[in-house]
Amino acid sequence: MNNKITLALTKGRPLQDALALLSEIGILPAEDIPKSRKLVFDTNQPNLQLMVLRSIDVATYVEHGIADMGMAGRDVLLEQGEQGYYQPLDLKIGVCDMMVAVLEEGYDPDRQNPSRLKVATKFVNIAKRYYAEKGQQVDIIKLYGAMELAPVTGLAHQIVDIVETGNTLRANGLIAIEHIADISTRLIVNKTSLKMKYERIHQITHDLSQVVSSS
Ligand code: PRP
Repeated sequence: MNNKITLALTKGRPLQDALALLSEIGILPAEDIPKSRKLVFDTNQPNLQLMVLRSIDVATYVEHGIADMGMAGRDVLLEQGEQGYYQPLDLKIGVCDMMVAVLEEGYDPDRQNPSRLKVATKFVNIAKRYYAEKGQQVDIIKLYGAMELAPVTGLAHQIVDIVETGNTLRANGLIAIEHIADISTRLIVNKTSLKMKYERIHQITHDLSQVVSSS
């Protein structure tokens, strides 16, 4: 195993917050990541590179040891089973909630759900576990985005999705009715990397935890 540390970040919305955290511990990419089409970036620190991936792929790269560390949303980690890596730190960025939501119009909390509830989500495993724990039989409809449209169009009775500001729910006439999980970005670490590159990984984790706890 070489001495280089590779840290995988999630592209898109979470990237700016992740880069801000890294800059607070003195790690700066050698170029402007959001403006680049590259996927791997050197930094101002020797032997530390950043990899920018889709959220769903960060844990896979860490689990297989291609990336030593990663920053990934707990929504995706929960969906994938939270296995195969250490999860030492809640980075307290990307904070939101995994919720059940329904159409506000006609919603009556005292009314029984239909015997076969239809639930649209991209978080199929989270939804399956949640309804199974409640003892509720459901048909899960897998979507890849714009979940809020499902109850509006009659595709599903409920959705399971992340809610940050609540603006998307409100704009589409939906309300959140049940809380499934607190979500935020987590630091994850490959198990072998932690043994082989302990000092560097421990230092980065420690520095990040100092920043997170002081904010
Ligand atoms: C996410 C999520 C909601 C929205 C919640 O979608 O699926 O639609 O953000 O944020 P809010 O509570 O602040 O409105 P995203 O923008 O990631 O796109 P997606 O539909 O492709 O998942």
